[in-house]
Amino acid sequence: MITTDEIRLICPVCGRELIKNEKSYSCKKRHSFDIARQGYVNLLPVQNKHSLSPGDTKAMLSARRNFLDKEYYLPLCSDIADMIKKYSPSQRPVIIDSGSGEGYYTVQLKEQCNAVCMGVDIAKEASKMSCSRDKEILWAVATASHIPVEDNSADVVTAVFSLFMNDEYARVLKEGGIVVEVTAGSKHLTELKQIIYDEVFEQNKKPSSFGEQYSLITQEDRVFGIDIGRQDLEALLMMTPHSHRISREQSERIEKIDNIRITVNYIVRVLKKKEKGS
Ligand SMILES: C[S@@+](CC[C@H](N)C(=O)[O-])C[C@H]1O[C@@H](n2cnc3c(N)ncnc32)[C@H](O)[C@@H]1O
Repeated sequence: MITTDEIRLICPVCGRELIKNEKSYSCKKRHSFDIARQGYVNLLPVQNKHSLSPGDTKAMLSARRNFLDKEYYLPLCSDIADMIKKYSPSQRPVIIDSGSGEGYYTVQLKEQCNAVCMGVDIAKEASKMSCSRDKEILWAVATASHIPVEDNSADVVTAVFSLFMNDEYARVLKEGGIVVEVTAGSKHLTELKQIIYDEVFEQNKKPSSFGEQYSLITQEDRVFGIDIGRQDLEALLMMTPHSHRISREQSERIEKIDNIRITVNYIVRVLKKKEKGS
């Protein structure tokens, strides 16, 4: 049994330590946060919530779950786990998965790295769905720009197709801790784009720049192919931002496809938080 007691939560309102009670977390200033029936905790104060339902929608999260459950992205997931095993100094790392979505990667990383995990996502529905995957992970509704954990308390922060928060990740990481970030590469999902758009221009995609708190350990450009049918192609479209941008006519082009090979291209980057004085 893995417990999440090693994750040092802080109050999102006043920054003091949060203590777990039977059905809630609370701090000395008596700010209190209920643990939902499903098991997640909402640590997103209204001032950090810039819309009524921030983050991905239920439809996007369900599409992602349907697609990821088929294990098409397992090689990507194992790649992240291997990076953690290779570059994290801890044998039992505390991992914060930032922008964890419906929880697929967080659970895989917990299992593959024998880790203590916390999944953070700004969408309440994401945390709710994640609870049905694994109860031994601390699922929190929170923003990646104010992760409600103490300074220097995590061994690893993962950001898989989500935001890179330079200063906040450096704050929560221990010295020598690592960020493992995955971003889309230039050829990612090219065939899907070719179906829905009349013209596809290859963009030279690069991860964002990083601050002097970090040193770059490695950056790899990976490519593999997946063979998928129409239903999974529709789910794949739904989990990307393209689904918001295209017309009905464009999305209907997918219906004419039976099977297709799709390129998965991602950049995985490992950054290490520098030790003080180095
Ligand atoms: C493209 S999805 C990736 C989800 C997951 N990592 C995966 O690959 O399956 C990005 C996720 O980031 C979340 N998100 C967006 N803005 C966020 C923020 N400011 N803080 C935390 N999560 C955020 C969204 O709700 C969404 O679940």
